[in-house]
Amino acid sequence: MAFEGSSSLPSMASTTAFLFFSFTFIFSLFSVLIFILRMRTWCNCHTCRSYLTKSWTHRFINLCDWYTHLLRNSPTGTIHVHVLQNIITSNPHNVEHIVKTRFDNYPKGKPFSTILGDLLGQGIFNVDGDYWKFQRKMASLELGSVAIRSYAFETVMDEIQMRLIPIVASKARGENETEMNSILDLQDILRRFSFDIICKFSFGLDPGCLLPSLPVSNLADAFDLTSKLSAERAMNVSPMIWKMKRFLNIGSEKKLREAINVVSNSANEIIKQRREMGFATRKDLLSRFMGLVNNNDIYLRDIVISFLLAGRDTVAAGLTGFFSLLSKNPRVEEMIREELNQILGPVQDSPTFDQIRQMHYLNAAVHESLRLFPPVQFDSKHAEEDDVLPDGTFVKKGSRVTYHPYAMGRMEKIWGPDCLEFKPERWLKDGLFVQPDPFKYPVFQAGLRVCLGKDLALMNMKLVVAALVPRFHIRVVGPNHEPQFVPGLTATFRGGLPIKVIEKKC
Ligand code: HEM
Repeated sequence: MAFEGSSSLPSMASTTAFLFFSFTFIFSLFSVLIFILRMRTWCNCHTCRSYLTKSWTHRFINLCDWYTHLLRNSPTGTIHVHVLQNIITSNPHNVEHIVKTRFDNYPKGKPFSTILGDLLGQGIFNVDGDYWKFQRKMASLELGSVAIRSYAFETVMDEIQMRLIPIVASKARGENETEMNSILDLQDILRRFSFDIICKFSFGLDPGCLLPSLPVSNLADAFDLTSKLSAERAMNVSPMIWKMKRFLNIGSEKKLREAINVVSNSANEIIKQRREMGFATRKDLLSRFMGLVNNNDIYLRDIVISFLLAGRDTVAAGLTGFFSLLSKNPRVEEMIREELNQILGPVQDSPTFDQIRQMHYLNAAVHESLRLFPPVQFDSKHAEEDDVLPDGTFVKKGSRVTYHPYAMGRMEKIWGPDCLEFKPERWLKDGLFVQPDPFKYPVFQAGLRVCLGKDLALMNMKLVVAALVPRFHIRVVGPNHEPQFVPGLTATFRGGLPIKVIEKKC
């Protein structure tokens, strides 16, 4: 029997495998056909051909660099990838039109909310209309309060002092020592740091990702996977492919479902604990929201997950870009150090909330790094009705319209011939920081849906810089080439940011 059984198993397995692969093949063919049929026109223009054949990869390592090149050469600062029905713009007048003047005509739209719906549900990032208005009002009231700001300040300072500085110091060598202790992946450290902070801030829970043992966190890993796989949905030639995989619960969709379950279960557990412990006197965001929508757990879950997504990778991505630029610009590092010395004096070692606000050069340096390395490289809307953009581009109803902060930060037309240089001075007038025009610099979006965490994010970034720069020289190791990004919802350096750390003499 055992022999018979074992001989029939392989043939059953091969029949199943054959059926599976035939099905997948026929299905993929079908999806490609549908995709081609859905295209308004088969376009043979240079841009569409390069996109479809991927020939752009011969000259550029990142899609965002290729788009930047095309946008720079476009007289209007706008391009059209016809086969994707996607208009991409770097023109500040168009940005203002999309996110402010004709805001009602440019919602996120169904294609976006379908892709992220399984992860974000009805969370603020994923909804339009009244659902969005309600959450926006509630969140802006909470995030604007003095109490939440001082809670955020304390949370960040605590994580810096207790975890970030010790872990960076543990890898440092003295200025006169030749051997370095070891190489540290700063991107990984900053992602752990940001995850601890956003969890403490959002729901008063400490996942301890930046403890000295650098533990594995199931929640953080599951969260990374969900954001990577959700972003990959958008890269399928047709949404039919991922929708069918989701229906059959196979491949990447199976992994995505499992990861979303981990995230959802953790969020539900947190909500349950918070309710049991009582939330009336607690300072975190979830407790504050519970006071407003206590009985709706699904809604609370969606809010929690949206905030995790909003605050986690963005801040880490911003800081990774900052330190990669600082490593190549010791002059800027020295200027930041001088300003810190001037404002803190010789004894005080960490700034107060008010002192951070007085640091104009630091503010300029952080804005400058976000110009060159915006954490959200592009952002798309979908046109409700036909429209014409200020530069004359016709927008057909249903088209995807994308503004591109990464490309905009690299436009001579906006920033002048030195646009590729890291120059904090461009933000200063008589030593004082000058606020950017939000439509030329939509790093935090602009208009009616401008980022609600902007001030918190900037404060967080400045506190990290103010803590690390006076203590350490941070130098990126390895070849000095431009970063390659991993496809995802926020900018992530492929291979991390390997650094060596040199402890400064007191
Ligand atoms: C450097 C860090 C950050 C950057 C560059 C950034 C950028 C952005 C961008 C571009 C958007 C618009 C996204 C879209 O509509 O698809 C956005 C929205 C948002 N951000 Fe941020 N963000 C950062 C940090 C944060 C933090 C720390 C929080 C929360 C504590 C936060 C909360 C939000 C929220 C709630 C929205 C949704 C606003 C709405 O739809 O009305 N962000 N952010």
